Amino acid sequence: MPVPIHHEPLSGKTGLRWWIAQLLLAAPVFAAAAAATQTPSLQVLHWWTSASERRAANVLAAHLGEEGVEWKDGAIPGGAGLGAGKVLRSRVLAGNAPDATQIIGVSIGEWAELGLLLELDNVATAGKWDKALFPTIRTLVQHRKHVVAAPLGIHRINTLFYNRKLFARLNLSPPTSWNEFELVARRLRAAGIAPLEQSSEPWQVATLFENLVLAESGPEYYRELFVRQSPQAAADARLTEALQRLRSMKSWMLNPAEELPWTDAVKRFARREAAMFVMGDWARAELNEMGYATDDEFACATMPGTDKYHLYSVDTLAMFAGDYAHQAAQEKLARLVVTPSVQQQYNAAKGAVPVRRDADPATMDNCARASWKAFGRGAAAQAPSLVHRMAADEESRDAIIAEVHRFYIDDSIPPADTQRRLGAILRTLNLRTHTRAGP
Ligand code: BGC
Repeated sequence: MPVPIHHEPLSGKTGLRWWIAQLLLAAPVFAAAAAATQTPSLQVLHWWTSASERRAANVLAAHLGEEGVEWKDGAIPGGAGLGAGKVLRSRVLAGNAPDATQIIGVSIGEWAELGLLLELDNVATAGKWDKALFPTIRTLVQHRKHVVAAPLGIHRINTLFYNRKLFARLNLSPPTSWNEFELVARRLRAAGIAPLEQSSEPWQVATLFENLVLAESGPEYYRELFVRQSPQAAADARLTEALQRLRSMKSWMLNPAEELPWTDAVKRFARREAAMFVMGDWARAELNEMGYATDDEFACATMPGTDKYHLYSVDTLAMFAGDYAHQAAQEKLARLVVTPSVQQQYNAAKGAVPVRRDADPATMDNCARASWKAFGRGAAAQAPSLVHRMAADEESRDAIIAEVHRFYIDDSIPPADTQRRLGAILRTLNLRTHTRAGP
């Protein structure tokens, strides 16, 4: 049976997309051999490799097992899925797509546009996803009016972790403005404590940066810059401010130049080597996993200036259709991950919050409850994370992150230079989008 290509013919101008389609059409149908096996199983590619991420993946695997389907784990290390995205591409090019994969945000539409993803409309209708899911989530898992991914949980990226015990000892409150941040940081330093933990891994620097852009401007300008990618937005004074703030925050960091995986950065924060840490709320699950309960040793607040907003990353599982040999098992997985009890268990382990509007806030800790409520305020309060592919595709994300990282590393680069370069990048990306759209 041919590999399904559902949508319009792919234009000759689409580069990688075109090649992928050609290779898939020419390749022997993947998974045909696997279909012959006795116990149904699904190969699942993802990037959940830390202790808490593993625990959350195990929740899904256990539930799938109860339904008689084996979860064959394909974990690719690399925070924010940097490695997993590349492995996925090369596997698909080699005609060896996984059955299910963690792909998120804009990437979902890219794979769906190639006609490679299983449509999950029946599962969504039976599970009444339409009513159950937050509107933003509903939109996120759809492509050309078909549901093509199953949503797992919502992470909040504008999370400021602080060491509650250190703060209490010094009689400090978590900062809600930049003035307060400076005051708190000064007090911590005077007490011999490094104010802020930060790794210089590019995606982690960009995490801080996207927070600063949101704090400086709110979701509307944030979208103009990262979603609509307007070159004019790159010249805006609000971006100058965000870049300057990024540079000035280096002076409060434990070690601004050190590249650490996020898991090691969490450990440093846990060991009280620094009193604050900006990271997606999966770090909370990791702290819990290390034995630190929420609101005991540590607590979470929002980044100064972003309290009203939710900078989000949503985890989703998409299924590669292949020759449809695994469709029944794939549909089981899609169905079960959205059920209320799996949502509750998975998200408690993952540090995320349910994608369902009818979730019970009483089952959540304070960080989760605040996140779920903030997300529930709707699109005007929500900002899609650039780093986690919610705002733009992988190429745009990588190009912007590289530029921001250069600025962060090299103090001699003036903000205006970085803004000019970002403007040029956005102009080029716009050209590409128009070329893709055709004449
Ligand atoms: C994912 C999370 C994951 C984090 C760290 C994010 O892109 O949404 O599930 O825990 O990256 O790797």
